[in-house]
Amino acid sequence: MEKMIIKGGNRLSGRVRVSGAKNAALPALSATLLTDEECIFSGFPPVADIATMGKTLRELGSEVESAGEYIRVKPGNSENFIAPYRLVKTMRASVLVLGPLLAKRGRAKVSLPGGCAIGARPIDMHLDGFQAMGAELKIRHGYVEGQARELRGTRVKFKRSTVTGTENVLMAACLARGETILENAALEPEVTDLANLLIQMGARIEGAGTDKIRINGVDKLSGARYRIIPDRIEAGTLLIAGAMCGGEVQVEGLIFDHQKALVEKLQAAGVKVEHDYDWIRVTRAGKVKAVDFETEPFPGFPTDLQAQMMALLSTAEGTSTIMENIFENRFMHVSELDRMGADIRVEGKRAMVQGVEHLSGAPVMASDLRASASLILAGLSAEGETEVSRIYHLDRGYERLDLKLAQLGADIRRVKD
Ligand code: EPU
Repeated sequence: MEKMIIKGGNRLSGRVRVSGAKNAALPALSATLLTDEECIFSGFPPVADIATMGKTLRELGSEVESAGEYIRVKPGNSENFIAPYRLVKTMRASVLVLGPLLAKRGRAKVSLPGGCAIGARPIDMHLDGFQAMGAELKIRHGYVEGQARELRGTRVKFKRSTVTGTENVLMAACLARGETILENAALEPEVTDLANLLIQMGARIEGAGTDKIRINGVDKLSGARYRIIPDRIEAGTLLIAGAMCGGEVQVEGLIFDHQKALVEKLQAAGVKVEHDYDWIRVTRAGKVKAVDFETEPFPGFPTDLQAQMMALLSTAEGTSTIMENIFENRFMHVSELDRMGADIRVEGKRAMVQGVEHLSGAPVMASDLRASASLILAGLSAEGETEVSRIYHLDRGYERLDLKLAQLGADIRRVKD
């Protein structure tokens, strides 16, 4: 296992480029199961979760080759329809193969992902969607087993906003007979990016990016060459790092419109923000001020940046209140931040962050992907040395965050535990 050693206190400044979005790449890989033709993607971040999805596709008979930011997927003519526990348990987004398998192969047997560190995360809304389209589903021995001779278009109304739920049902609907209407569909840019890929593959989709998506099923989809969108969460993490330790940090290659909720909160905290449509520059102008925020589906403040923003606010002037509305257990980083001298109290889904003068370096343990990023940011601004262990969580979704931060002037190194 590896850990990160950070000597805090360095000013960060300079320019850094954002990688492609992990959460757009994962559904894009699943979508290749809907076609018999080759798909070539660019902009893919070489992170562990993408490798796991690659393994799942190989298990399902696809050829998968990657080189740097490129990945080529050629579905074989395998009739395999099983995504085993051994793969799904390491990454719950593997359930994204369920919709494409039901639609294209008429059968699917996909391990139930189970809970994870940040919450129970059931997939009932995915399953309700497939059932409404005529799939027969059973849960047996920890697996969802489904079959559908033909999926039928229908109206699916999600009872709350779900990102991968919308993506899964959207993919299945592309090959269903007739029209499917998704209501209360997720508005996240990753959903829109998947719809754009599917449209390039020949799907008939209207309304992606709104809460009502209309899909007219087609008989088959073709291959595609597609570049996925930049990672708004990685971009946000780097911007928060800049706000904590700047200097002037410019993050390039992002889409400004995807970052608006964060920018608004950074400005309210007194951080100077300049931007164009594809870059944002943050400059720390004096002490950061407390701000309140709550996590919400897009275009609200993303839950995937809550932990990083909390690290920033832990040394702000005043008390910030943070409400985590998406996941019921996404405050695992709090006790670790408190070990570094933060003063944070959690009551249910609310965290009260009383800003302290400074954090002090300590050995801490990452509990999930975004919590690892939060602890690294805390370490960058703390006095003395911080050791973050279990950084395999970080490597699931960030492309060498340590190197990008070092490029901006951070004293951070990765060592074997
Ligand atoms: N939910 C249900 N039933 C369902 C589906 C979801 O109750 O059938 C609940 C969840 O438990 C949660 C809420 O609905 O409380 C929203 O969950 P959503 O389905 O939107 O989350 P997800 O699709 O499982 C994706 C991202 C997450 C990100 C969330 C929220 C991917 C692969 N994952 O998860 O990313 O936090 O949307 O934006 O796209 C991360 O990258 O660190 C990460 C966790």
